[in-house]
Amino acid sequence: MKIKSFEEYLSTYRKSVEDPEAFWSGIAQEFHWRKLWKKTLSWDFNDLDVQWFIGGKLNITENCLDRHVLTHPDKVAIIWESNEPTDIFVKITYRELYEKVCQFANVLKNNGVKKGDRVCIYMPMVPEAAVAMLACARIGAIHSVVFAGFSANSLADRINDAQCNAIITSDIAYRGNKTLEIKQIVDEALQKTPSIQRCIVYQRGEGKVNMVEGRDTWWHEEIKKANKEFEAEEMDSEDPLFILYTSGSTGKPKGVVHSTGGYMVYTKFTFENVFQYEENDVYWCTADVGWITGHSYIVYGPLLAGATVLMFEGIPTYPDAGRFWRVIAKHRVNIFYTAPTAIRSLMTFGEEFITPYNLSTLKVLGSVGEPINEEAWQWFYKNIGKSRCPIVDTWWQTETGGIMISPLPRITVQKPTFATLPLPGVQPIVVDNNGKEIHGNGVEGNLCIKFPWPSMIRTTYGDHERCKQNYFATYKGLYFTGDGCKRDEDGYYRITGRVDDVINVSGHRIGTAEVENAINQHIAVVESAVVGYPHDIKGQGIYAFVICESKPENEEQFKKEVLNVVTREIGAIAKPDIIQVVEGLPKTRSGKIMRRILRKIAEGDTSNLGDITTLLDPTIVESIKEGAAALR
Ligand code: WT7
Repeated sequence: MKIKSFEEYLSTYRKSVEDPEAFWSGIAQEFHWRKLWKKTLSWDFNDLDVQWFIGGKLNITENCLDRHVLTHPDKVAIIWESNEPTDIFVKITYRELYEKVCQFANVLKNNGVKKGDRVCIYMPMVPEAAVAMLACARIGAIHSVVFAGFSANSLADRINDAQCNAIITSDIAYRGNKTLEIKQIVDEALQKTPSIQRCIVYQRGEGKVNMVEGRDTWWHEEIKKANKEFEAEEMDSEDPLFILYTSGSTGKPKGVVHSTGGYMVYTKFTFENVFQYEENDVYWCTADVGWITGHSYIVYGPLLAGATVLMFEGIPTYPDAGRFWRVIAKHRVNIFYTAPTAIRSLMTFGEEFITPYNLSTLKVLGSVGEPINEEAWQWFYKNIGKSRCPIVDTWWQTETGGIMISPLPRITVQKPTFATLPLPGVQPIVVDNNGKEIHGNGVEGNLCIKFPWPSMIRTTYGDHERCKQNYFATYKGLYFTGDGCKRDEDGYYRITGRVDDVINVSGHRIGTAEVENAINQHIAVVESAVVGYPHDIKGQGIYAFVICESKPENEEQFKKEVLNVVTREIGAIAKPDIIQVVEGLPKTRSGKIMRRILRKIAEGDTSNLGDITTLLDPTIVESIKEGAAALR
């Protein structure tokens, strides 16, 4: 179902709220089910139990592949653009993708992977990453993709949490002018992961890596032994499709679990509507498959819709800052979905990187991952969209599975920096800090969702209680997003950013607690406190206040070591931008760090720090302020 006018949006939205079950069951009819559901929805936000399309049986890959092989086998499913900007690129049709997925499903089976097993995927942006995900789904194994920028320790933690029995990886990964030794990182991680039986290695480079006898095997060797048909496993609508780890305000990253039926229905519906995808469009999303955007809007949503999706291995600035625009011109891209951080970074390079390329095929632009500031919005609109392509500013989260609040291009009147209106089936509400609903327009508060939608988080892997506590306990009876928002006079939503201890660095979510735990691993560190601060390119930067055993003799050296520890424990994406060695932290008498004060100092706004008299030692604030000023 594709909405075509604003009137239709309004009437569809109304129906979706008045009778959500009738609405979603109508949409779900568009798919191939082995057996139809008996009941559309059952839910309880207090005890957290949400089920959609109950009793329905299906395999999502039959909807991504088999269906299209029947109607348009030769349509291109994936165009792959490699890190190197050569003229050679790969096009995979729906029939070929079907065969590759079936073949790799056989490989998984031959290697002992069964329905319900967890399989880790740690790969570069190559089509085989999508093949691996879909092959898992075909045999009913639960994939857990880990972004190939996370460290061996992070990878090991995620593998252990999900008790994966197999991992799929590659020898190396190319990113710009760097070559990353992916397999080495995996080898290091696997020393701490007793559950792993098999490691299947895709050869992206020369293949000169260590292979452990009995555990490691080559992708290209394995597929020689596997045929290209695989009868898809019959799954229950509520069977988990995948786990994806994401950071919260406390502790280690948690494994967000998504189900099969609801996720399928929601990602296709939102893909078609938010991007207004048309038959022959080429669609490009620049995310990595290691994040939810890659799952929902590179792999599942577009393939469910039978779209042609471009997959890009490289980075925006290699070989130069014109790469995105060069790729758009080369592949005649019609729909381009990227992140504000990429836009802000490319803005600084100037227009000479854009003008050589013909961008006239573009119809729709999209933004995701963090609030898009007015300047970046305008630059994107004028320079890339040539003031003729609407921008869809899509707000959503790993936990929501799909886009929740977004304009529909050429349908919703856009307003820069506003994600605008909820999609059909999405019921947002704004609450104050006591959980009381704030009615009417022209208001501001915490963003919650009061009714289930099909692709919502079902649990956090192995810890249902934590899921309840994290999302459903702050405001009783509501799903709490962790974001603050404004609802303006037109009822448009603007997401103002996280209100919890989560930092959004270049569109990547990082928990302050995680970074603190990593920093505290340094032998000289006694305690640390990490906060976010506004950063011109990244949106937010990471600011770390660190107390040392004794003042480091060589502060520069010490800071380098701290960065190394964070890279080792989490990955380069979590490296602090600023480290300040302090003598103490602003703590209340009960020992709680007053982050509010640290955030202000990190922002460079020390004019009004609020009441500091309740601090155990108010004088510490002065010395931190002085230290911060000296760093700027
Ligand atoms: C957090 C979720 C959803 C895919 C990528 C990130 C922020 C996301 C927007 C937007 C303002 C946004 C929120 C959200 N966010 N999109 N359009 N405008 N903020 O997924 O890693 O789960 O992060 O990203 O703060 O809570 P994620």
